[in-house]
Amino acid sequence: MVRSVIAGCGAYLPANRVTNDDLAQRVDTSDAWIRERSGIVARHFAAEGELTSDLAAQAARAALADAGLEADAVDLIVLATATPDKTFPATAVRVQTLLGCRPGVPAFDVQAVCSGFLYALGVADSMVKVGLARTALVIGAETFSRLLDFNDRTTCVLFGDGAGAVVLQASDASGGLEQRGIHSVHLHADGRYQDLLYVDGGPSSTQTTGFVRMHGKEVFRHAVTNLSGVVTEALEANGLSAADLDWIVPHQANQRILDGTARKLEIDPARVISTIALHANTSAASVPLAMSVARADGRLKAGDLVLLEALGGGFTWGAALVRL
Ligand code: ACO
Repeated sequence: MVRSVIAGCGAYLPANRVTNDDLAQRVDTSDAWIRERSGIVARHFAAEGELTSDLAAQAARAALADAGLEADAVDLIVLATATPDKTFPATAVRVQTLLGCRPGVPAFDVQAVCSGFLYALGVADSMVKVGLARTALVIGAETFSRLLDFNDRTTCVLFGDGAGAVVLQASDASGGLEQRGIHSVHLHADGRYQDLLYVDGGPSSTQTTGFVRMHGKEVFRHAVTNLSGVVTEALEANGLSAADLDWIVPHQANQRILDGTARKLEIDPARVISTIALHANTSAASVPLAMSVARADGRLKAGDLVLLEALGGGFTWGAALVRL
């Protein structure tokens, strides 16, 4: 039996940091409103010409260095993004060449918006388990700023650009939850809610890129319900209670969603990793970005039992139980 272990993680934020006050110079908003409603203090926007693949490659390099591996060790790249460089080919194949990974290894994109990283992790973990890969790069990367309508203050203040990555390695799975590795992945989608959070463009519909559109209050309500549901599902599947977890690493959408979910699950908010203030909602990048920040500042440690969770447009949502 094989299990995939997270052997390293890394992240990248573009150099251009935009504070709430900076944003208030071009949008009718304020630092106080954004902080109070979302917990966001700043976000990073990619420079002109800086592509999702560039961000992804930076995060992947950091993850490989953290794992002590070279690019030629990689035999699978799964990249989650809703903001690909091009409609095709997949952004993952440019990352393959940027990193100098071996030609011929499979590389493809996964699209599940803000839960994209959980979906990519589930796909890569399954491929490792069935022997299709031994060392996989799983990346979440977004240039979400390119989808923002700066005339819509209800959405444009909430998102940012960034990337995060983990390296998965095949490992022996003879032991139980005390062993390092991904212990379970739980993925869901419900297309009945696709009109609550979407981009109003695309190659087959409008032949334009489009902008993010969101019914914020409804998204908020579904997020708290679905996220607490999938966290409970993951805990029950492993015979655990919330008190057994060292940390929850949630998708960084909004501090109030993090707080509401923790309240519903009766989890101490101090055990919920929050990095939203630093980079706003970076969609598929946010879970590995939060992991990397929390690793670097000493909150996440080797051996911790961690639950990753996310919800995004679709709706799509998911969770993964991991021993670091
Ligand atoms: N700056 C200042 N005022 C604003 C802004 C802004 N950026 N945006 C809206 N307002 C105003 C509105 O116009 C409204 O004014 P009015 O009362 O005079 O009409 C007032 O603020 C309140 O607006 P609401 O939409 O009712 O604000 P609400 O308290 O619902 O907060 C928010 C909006 C933050 C979007 C909230 O609904 C939310 O957190 N939703 C979750 C959405 C989310 O996080 N999405 C991320 C993607 S999904 C995911 O990743 C899970």
